[in-house]
Amino acid sequence: MAAMIGRDLLSLADLSADEVQQLLQLAAQLKSGQMSLRCNKILGLLFYKASTRTRVSFSAAMYQLGGQVMDLNPDVSQVSRGEPVQDTARVLDRYLDILAIRTFEQQQIETFAHYAKIPVINALTDLEHPCQILADLLTVQECFGELAGLTLTYLGDGNNVAHSLLLGCALVGMNVRIATPPGFGPNPAIVEQSQAIALSQTEVMVTHDPEAAAKGATVLYTDVWASMGQEAEANSRIPVFQPYQINEQLLNIADPNAIVLHCLPAHRGEEITDGVMEGSQSRIWDQAENRLHAQKALLASLLGAN
Ligand code: CP
Ligand code: NVA
Repeated sequence: MAAMIGRDLLSLADLSADEVQQLLQLAAQLKSGQMSLRCNKILGLLFYKASTRTRVSFSAAMYQLGGQVMDLNPDVSQVSRGEPVQDTARVLDRYLDILAIRTFEQQQIETFAHYAKIPVINALTDLEHPCQILADLLTVQECFGELAGLTLTYLGDGNNVAHSLLLGCALVGMNVRIATPPGFGPNPAIVEQSQAIALSQTEVMVTHDPEAAAKGATVLYTDVWASMGQEAEANSRIPVFQPYQINEQLLNIADPNAIVLHCLPAHRGEEITDGVMEGSQSRIWDQAENRLHAQKALLASLLGAN
């Protein structure tokens, strides 16, 4: 993975199809214990939004690699008092080896990446959540052995997770169907980008029909109906999004061997029923675990661990 050393991961589209496959392979090897890597470097976490999985899995991954982690809480840093991103980025660059940022605007991490020479990782923005999708693809690969030709259906809001799923599925040759209420579809530029990446036989479908999207799918996937920053709209969205809930009836029209994924945190009874979350087709806890393995592979590749 020498070609990845020193690079940023701001969008899943920053990776080639081969690089995604290599990262998944490395993640699987690290998970099984077949491979062990060391890297005595410092990871900074700059999170402007809440996080459980991303924060803890990045930290655990870095410690397991033999590195250190610094939690750069924006509330007690000068960034919360208005220090410009371009100044903060150039200073952090001098102390850290790699920086993972969770924030609102994609433009902000792009500015960080422009001014910091160290690798910058998108740990979620309003536009994308690439690290989540690496773990999701690892989970699907574990369940089905291969990815190409499978069909993933995402139901709910056309948000950051939907965007990275569009790109991630296109990169690995999975058919991807995104079903959202009218007015909540994915960013058309990302849909177009995914269509450009996808091979001619790979389907990229965007629809408002949840049943057409779920029919025969191998993976059903959902996320919260209101993301961080959209809390004020959460209640008014519930009736609009109700037809897109992953429940037992919808699961019945998917492939009989279908698995169910959710990036978490979940609102049980809204985007997914308690029964499906706890049911035999749920792989949600393996998916959460895989954040650790996928991000360890990513850190190791960007830092050149050996
Ligand atoms: N899925 C995910 O990113 O979870 P956190 O918000 O807890 O990090
Ligand atoms: N779409 C959700 C994902 C949380 C991991 C959000 O941005 O809040």
